[in-house]
Amino acid sequence: MTRETVLSEVSDGIATITINRPEVLNALNMQLLGDLLGVIGEVSTDADVKIVVITGAGKAFVAGADIAQMKEFTTRQALAFGDFGHSVLLGLETMDKPVIAAVNGYALGGGTEIALGCDFIYASSKAKFGQPEVGLGIIPGFGGTQRLARTVGMNKARELIYTGDIIDAAEAKRIGLVGDVFAPEELMDKVREKAQAIMTKGLFAIGTAKRLINKGVDLSLDAALEFEKQAFSALFGSEDQKIGMTAFVEKKAPQFRNR
Ligand code: COA
Repeated sequence: MTRETVLSEVSDGIATITINRPEVLNALNMQLLGDLLGVIGEVSTDADVKIVVITGAGKAFVAGADIAQMKEFTTRQALAFGDFGHSVLLGLETMDKPVIAAVNGYALGGGTEIALGCDFIYASSKAKFGQPEVGLGIIPGFGGTQRLARTVGMNKARELIYTGDIIDAAEAKRIGLVGDVFAPEELMDKVREKAQAIMTKGLFAIGTAKRLINKGVDLSLDAALEFEKQAFSALFGSEDQKIGMTAFVEKKAPQFRNR
């Protein structure tokens, strides 16, 4: 499941995807986006994968889209590049499995945007976040104008996008972008611990919750609540609901079958 610019390995139900162009701080070019899209497709359909973790090789998570490649883009090429980036983000968001960003260093521009496409973000204390695109005469193009505002609120998103300010992990946690911050050498172990804890729960139910949360933000409250009510009741037809509730009543740990 490994490509030239994206590594992937599966262990104990956790797929770890490592973005791998460390010589340019994992800058996103066309090849990397294609490799990433391919790996996302593979892990989303691999029955051995229960949960996905994305990180970066070397000192960066992703220092943005590849400026050297983008510099010569025509508007048409920029549109195709934007489409490609959006497909990657949608691949993460619509995957029926939790995806955690383990941000090990710089997550700038497309780096912050990829992290925002994950279900939540854990960061090393060395991580840095930002949308510096206006300093290059462009705007965030992989969903940053939309997902950042949905995550940290419109005022904070405007401030970060207009100033291009780079914030550290502690500030990212304070504004609700990051769930938790760990020492750099502990980051991957802590993220795997969190992933393992999630894997003891009903993953079929978690996949349903993910879809409701992601789709619900674009619906009226009334429509989203109806969608929730239908999904809630449908889960009473799942094996996991029987397993979870029977285990509770019998004071045992549930052994979910994820269906
Ligand atoms: N696109 C292309 N190349 C990039 C890159 C990007 N987004 N970010 C870093 N690189 C390359 C650098 O050009 C450099 O290559 P070189 O060794 O051939 O000169 C290499 O990665 C290392 O980066 P460098 O700038 O020397 O590291 P640093 O630690 O001094 O600075 C950053 C790190 C992240 C602050 C700096 O690289 C930076 O500002 N990158 C661009 C961030 C950005 O604007 N992203 C949004 C793009 S839309």
